[in-house]
Amino acid sequence: MKVNESLEKFYYYAFPMQAVLVTCNDKKGKTNVITIAWHTPISKNPPLYGISVAPSRYSHNLIQKTKEFVVNFVPYEIVDKVNFCGKNSGRNIDKIKEANLTLEPAQKLKTPIIKECFSHLECKLYDTLTLGDHTVFIGEVVNVMANKNAFTDDLLDNKRIKPTYYVGGNVYTTISKTKRIF
Ligand SMILES: Cc1cc2nc3c(=O)[nH]c(=O)nc-3n(C[C@H](O)[C@H](O)[C@H](O)COP(=O)(O)O)c2cc1C
Repeated sequence: MKVNESLEKFYYYAFPMQAVLVTCNDKKGKTNVITIAWHTPISKNPPLYGISVAPSRYSHNLIQKTKEFVVNFVPYEIVDKVNFCGKNSGRNIDKIKEANLTLEPAQKLKTPIIKECFSHLECKLYDTLTLGDHTVFIGEVVNVMANKNAFTDDLLDNKRIKPTYYVGGNVYTTISKTKRIF
């Protein structure tokens, strides 16, 4: 038997979604970080990746101005930092410092990567779509880096890396089982 659920929370039915940390710089080169659950690959050629950001976020202004961002994929060990960066604004605090995250230079952008993360998509702003109450920033992926040994045959090695997923509310999870179907 089916029951009707709240339309307002339609997006809860897509959870769990991988939560990423997106880095972006201000014009002076100071880095902010925002937690994003609404993100997706969009095109293989050219390589495009989209993130959906509410205009109220401080990061929204930064990406509009500098036209670049890095998508950092996060190991479950630092899930507390993911929650922290999604509950506090860079308008008021230095989240990199407060969350004790380490920045390292990217290869093709001024915006740095987060060392504690296991893979990184360097994105140059390709297009901006205003859709409803969010802005979809579409980045062209100009460089990809990952921890050595994080991937085996291009696939995430789940024995070594536990990615971070957002379940909704203040709940997070990770994956413990993977299966290869032959
Ligand atoms: C798990 C999680 C996922 C989130 N996903 C998004 C998202 O996809 N888009 C968005 O605009 N905000 C999202 N947020 C909210 C922002 O991360 C939050 O408002 C943050 O404080 C904004 O930081 P900023 O003002 O420094 O940019 C999420 C928050 C959490 C905790």
